[in-house]
Amino acid sequence: MSAVIYQIYPRSFADSDGDGVGDLQGVRAHLDHLVWLGVDAIWLSPFYRSPMADFGYDVSDYCDVDPLFGTLADFDALVADAHALGLKVVVDWVPNHTSDRHRWFVDARASRDADHRDFYVWRDPSPDGGPPNNWVRAWGEQPAWTLDPATGQWYLHLFLPEQPDLDWQNPAVAAAMHDVLRFWLDRGVDGFRMDVLHALGKDPALPDDDPELLPIPHSALNHHRSTHDIVRNLRGVLEEYDGDRMMVGEIFLLDTALVATYYDGGEGVHLAFNFPPLYAPWDAASWQVQVEAVAREIEPVGWPSWVLSNHDQPRHRTRYGSPARARAAAVLLLGLRGTPFLYAGEELGLEDAEVPAERAVDPGGRDGCRAPIPWDATPTHGWSTADAWLPWPPDADRRDVASLRTQETSILHLYRRLLTERRTSPALTLGEQELLRAPDGVLAWQRRADGDERRVLVNFTGEAVSDGLVGQSTGWAVRVSSDGRGEAGPFGGTLRPDQAVMLAPAVE
Ligand code: GLC
Repeated sequence: MSAVIYQIYPRSFADSDGDGVGDLQGVRAHLDHLVWLGVDAIWLSPFYRSPMADFGYDVSDYCDVDPLFGTLADFDALVADAHALGLKVVVDWVPNHTSDRHRWFVDARASRDADHRDFYVWRDPSPDGGPPNNWVRAWGEQPAWTLDPATGQWYLHLFLPEQPDLDWQNPAVAAAMHDVLRFWLDRGVDGFRMDVLHALGKDPALPDDDPELLPIPHSALNHHRSTHDIVRNLRGVLEEYDGDRMMVGEIFLLDTALVATYYDGGEGVHLAFNFPPLYAPWDAASWQVQVEAVAREIEPVGWPSWVLSNHDQPRHRTRYGSPARARAAAVLLLGLRGTPFLYAGEELGLEDAEVPAERAVDPGGRDGCRAPIPWDATPTHGWSTADAWLPWPPDADRRDVASLRTQETSILHLYRRLLTERRTSPALTLGEQELLRAPDGVLAWQRRADGDERRVLVNFTGEAVSDGLVGQSTGWAVRVSSDGRGEAGPFGGTLRPDQAVMLAPAVE
């Protein structure tokens, strides 16, 4: 619960073999960066065998590494090194769908009575010959169904046609997928990030979605009660193992009260992603609503999580629009009660890359946030001489790891100071949280545990603020400031524009 988890998108992190695509040995070679930064765990986005229609979220073999990323031996070496350095390893698990090249689906589509036919969701055409219902797939406003002409039935896919949905009502599917978890648990992984977990259970009647809600993809609308049993059983598999093996569910439902239900009284997920804050603008009132919703809905039933960026959304540096805001957002993220998820590159203050149409590759239009990580200021940024698979993010010759490490005032050092502060303060890691009444445009809260106390003030406005609680906080000392100024001194009672501070009681 006290961990800070760092997401690695393996294609974009670091390349060891010169093909312009990141790989597991590349990750292994850069673990020192993560230890220096001070995170506790890494989450690896998929590195399994895949035809890459959805860049690895279309898995054709759950129990092997795609040659693009290396081998199982490389994975074992990565886990061994990470553990030796005190880092936990969380892997992605993609249970809602396989690749259409997975041997189960290849068999399933061979005939109506194939062994694996009922691993997937097949239906006859509707009376007019069209898809069985009105569900819409992700990206593209197309039906969530594709007709298989050879067998005359449609198969369900909440994502691409190359990602057929598994039928979790079939106990053989659950058993086979549980074995996949055991395969990785036996190799020593510490947990799983579970992809679109809320979508696993479907209403067996497959009723139409409310036409008023279309074209929202069915994956963002589906929350059938059968999913809760599925998730409890997954938890049971984790509990067969010693140690703190954990699962974090991607619950892509934009309603915090619904997200909270997946904790299931301690029998469901250990953590759930809660995405509404990720869609909140840079605005104190909007963030207050989010923090209150988490306090009301999630805190009574489970431990919250917080995330500002990932491989599916424009980076928050890009969304919020300025370096000062990206710095203040780091204080926000690392000051709130709950497990923070960092997305590789946010510690560099990276913006999304501009990806020209001829280099765009993702069917979901998410290339910008997946730009490769610049490790140094050379033209190839510590990658190979080949062009990396996507263009570099803006200012890659200044926002690279090596350059920012030499600058004590950089955002990279700010993240490191925040992580140190968090790790050494019981109030910040596990303490209670109370929102405080603050002037307009400022969000303020206090954390407490075991006599340890911290106060966080975030100024979301472009103006200096010194009234109310801000002016009254002069009895506190600045531990970390988003602009790096005045740390270790008393708080002067004024927040500069877009400044956030972490304060501790001043020592008499
Ligand atoms: C999740 C992943 C996303 C992927 C989708 C389908 O939302 O985060 O990258 O495309 O699931 O697997």
